[in-house]
Amino acid sequence: MRARILGTGSYVPERVLTNADLERMVATSDAWIMERTGIRERRLAAQGEACSNLAVQAAERALAAAGVAAAELDLILLATCTGDYPVPSTACLVQHRLGAVRAAACDIGAACCGFLYGLGVGDAYVRTGTRYVLVIGAEVMSAVTDWTDRNTCVLFGDGAGAAVLGPSEGDRGILSSHLHSDGGLWDLIAVPGGGSRMPPSEKMVAERQQYIKMKGNETFKVAVKTLEDGVREALAANNLTVDDLDLLVPHQANLRIIKAVASRLGLPLEKVMLNLEWYGNTSAASIPLALDEAVKAGRITEGSLVLMEAFGAGLTWASTVVRW
Ligand code: ACO
Repeated sequence: MRARILGTGSYVPERVLTNADLERMVATSDAWIMERTGIRERRLAAQGEACSNLAVQAAERALAAAGVAAAELDLILLATCTGDYPVPSTACLVQHRLGAVRAAACDIGAACCGFLYGLGVGDAYVRTGTRYVLVIGAEVMSAVTDWTDRNTCVLFGDGAGAAVLGPSEGDRGILSSHLHSDGGLWDLIAVPGGGSRMPPSEKMVAERQQYIKMKGNETFKVAVKTLEDGVREALAANNLTVDDLDLLVPHQANLRIIKAVASRLGLPLEKVMLNLEWYGNTSAASIPLALDEAVKAGRITEGSLVLMEAFGAGLTWASTVVRW
């Protein structure tokens, strides 16, 4: 027994922020952003639209696609680093609004890898007898973005994606999950303020410590190496080669990272799902957004072999292999 993805869904807010808009906010240019990241525009949540609002929309679409009612869910795992409140979990807000009356619910904090961590945990539950698990990745990155910092504000966007897991008795489903961490590199990507290390204060706000800080160039180098190793590890564990893959769905952080990894693996870009041009880096929402788009576009069909891989703050890195 393993878990299968029964349906996917996604949601992005309406408001679009283009590179031209950013040119009016910080010292940057459309040419720089396109060349260094591949991002053309990103979506921003409306005022009053929080993480749970995005998550509920994506979840309802995934439940409809799966043909599973909210009341049938046993577990809701919501991957985010931009939840509505520090307490309670955003998963509980989503559980209530969906009417998932039977479900346990909790958040997963693994930054950009959160959705793949969720698939790994959800798969383990289904393998041990749990029936339906809803895994969501939802982020309002604009809430932790410093709109005066050109090093980071051009990178992130808001969005949500979700998948419903259920039991699979055939050979379809999640073939493997590899979840990794290295907290020794925690300070490559961090929001320093607002937690118990640096509780909210006037000084913290004045120093803009409530916003995300990233050592971009160092992160870039670790990302390429780690992602390449991660894909090789996942393929070896399943006795597969790169040629067996129908589609790679990578975390959409930077087109140059994705291209470098594909080139090191010898994987043609036609076999790589890309949508970061339109959404930027949506952290935990990035993979489920791309996955849902690939399903809707017919790039993933029954029997497709799909490898998802991600890298993010923590550090964390992860991969999931699925026979669709
Ligand atoms: N516009 C114009 N110039 C800029 C901008 C900008 N928006 N941002 C930085 N620059 C400048 C820098 O100041 C620097 O100028 P200098 O040489 O005069 O100092 C120059 O451009 C080069 O800066 P680098 O940081 O070396 O640029 P790089 O090519 O590395 O690109 C980027 C930066 C896009 C951030 C890249 O390093 C990257 O994508 N890193 C990885 C991000 C990532 O994968 N994060 C993980 C997930 S995030 C999460 O977990 C939440």
